[in-house]
Amino acid sequence: MMSPNLAPIPELFVSHESAQKLKIEAGELPSWDLTPRQVCDLELLMNGGFSPLKGFLSQADYDSVVERMRLADGTLWPMPITLDVSSGFAEGVEPGQDIALRDQEGVILATMTVTDKWTPDKAREAARVFGADDIAHPAVNYLHNSAGTVYLGGPVTGIQPPVHYDFKARRDTPNELRALFRKLGWRRVVAFQTRNPLHRAHQELTFRAAREAQANLLIHPVVGMTKPGDVDHFTRVRCYEAVLDKYPAATTTMSLLNLAMRMAGPREAVWHGIIRRNHGCTHMIVGRDHAGPGKNSAGDDFYGPYDAQDLFREHQAEIGLEMVDFKQMVYVQDRAQYEAADEIEEGATVLNISGTELRRRLREGLEIPDWFSFPEVVGELRRRYPPRSQQGFTVFLTGLSGSGKSTIANALMIKLMEMGDRPVTLLDGDVVRKNLSSELGFSKEHRDLNIRRIGFVASEITKNGGIAICAPIAPYAATRRAVREEIEQYGAFVEVHVATSLEECERRDRKGLYRLAREGKIKEFTGISDPYDEPEAPELRVNTEGVEVDNCAHQVLLKLESMGLIAG
Ligand code: PPS
Repeated sequence: MMSPNLAPIPELFVSHESAQKLKIEAGELPSWDLTPRQVCDLELLMNGGFSPLKGFLSQADYDSVVERMRLADGTLWPMPITLDVSSGFAEGVEPGQDIALRDQEGVILATMTVTDKWTPDKAREAARVFGADDIAHPAVNYLHNSAGTVYLGGPVTGIQPPVHYDFKARRDTPNELRALFRKLGWRRVVAFQTRNPLHRAHQELTFRAAREAQANLLIHPVVGMTKPGDVDHFTRVRCYEAVLDKYPAATTTMSLLNLAMRMAGPREAVWHGIIRRNHGCTHMIVGRDHAGPGKNSAGDDFYGPYDAQDLFREHQAEIGLEMVDFKQMVYVQDRAQYEAADEIEEGATVLNISGTELRRRLREGLEIPDWFSFPEVVGELRRRYPPRSQQGFTVFLTGLSGSGKSTIANALMIKLMEMGDRPVTLLDGDVVRKNLSSELGFSKEHRDLNIRRIGFVASEITKNGGIAICAPIAPYAATRRAVREEIEQYGAFVEVHVATSLEECERRDRKGLYRLAREGKIKEFTGISDPYDEPEAPELRVNTEGVEVDNCAHQVLLKLESMGLIAG
């Protein structure tokens, strides 16, 4: 039997008095503002979650971890924990020097004695650690497109942990959990790692896993950084709290882990095991495709479904924690209960709702049955993901000057206000230029800045459940795409190309600007002396020639209805 991992674990913090002194001294040091991911890594370095690491990896440790999953001294460690910085910052720092590490508000959390500085071979890191240099993998994408170009390594001296304002009572350091398990007399503890809401099948499988291991259960969800697109941790934690009540009293507890996941499948599973050992657990549930990143750019899975279990099993003794096999639980309709998929009778009717189907039902406001999840969990998810007809969205009209954008936008606004279910804001080109962008001209830089400002305001409106109607020229496709990406995090982006031809706009010349542009009195005029990239695949293209404005606005409404954004 494995010995319980309950003795106190070393942390990297100095005493309170030393921390006060160090904080003042650190104010003089070159200081690095940590990225959100680095803040997560630093927290687990300092509180012992990443024990035996004493700081960000040195070059020798990094090379060895990348190549053979071990520190230079041979200790098992699967994940490069590196301090990536910009080349500009790295130029001012030399090995032997101390630097201060600050959170995003500028609070000094730690100092680091820089022992190593190097430029990593990121393609090699991607291939060796994540299995492929393919930016469809979120960690590879991060490595190439977000991480700095230079790595600094060296031991860390902890001054204070990062401050969390949310769910304080649910966050525990490894030593706090070890102390809790000692106090409760829990000698065998199974950890369940998760980044998703728990439904009935998860509750059944975790409870069963704990019972089979004759152990207590720790629900240990990741609330640091998970896979882009996951349900936010605020919603998830409220869901977990509801599920916690469904376990028999005193068998189960929950604690939040501020880990920045890498979605590295097999290596990540081993890493998760070490982290859970450090948090006082003796067992961990490892499932099918543990910490899987999804499909690669060729449309195939990055890892085999059982690669994580295989690698974990191989290193189990060194990890110091036993793997509990994940039994897939399915709902057997005839027996009205969950059973292990490999134990059910032949011919039994099994019900299932996939993640994709669940999202569809939420999006469309359809029924989610009680056998699938708990009403409290469904309630939280519905609150977070109301049907599209109750979410915010942005209508983005683009077209030449005088194409009719503002007129259609105004008519559309009035029609949506008549419906009255969500607040409507019009961000018209001219109006924005009078208020938000009064200092800007019409150079490419200024137009981009103007559109990005409109995009930012529209994304805030969309996020908060309102309707934003934007009507700028927005001549550049790349800028429109960037705005789309920003808004689509929160709700739908409906691009409407008001496709009135240049000839017609010039013929109408409502403001007399085309004439001035032809005479060269207005420079950089869109369509005349400045480009307009026609949208290639807008949600809707309207032609205003010979068509009433009312009809154009109606076409937009029909589009919104067909997209489920307004109730039929
Ligand atoms: S942009 O490119 O999206 O930032 O333009 P936008 O903010 O929509 O501003 C367009 C309105 O400004 C007037 N105007 C010009 N348009 C294009 N090019 C030049 N050089 C220019 N100078 C002034 C014009 O009235 C536009 O209004 P609309 O409503 O589009 O006709």
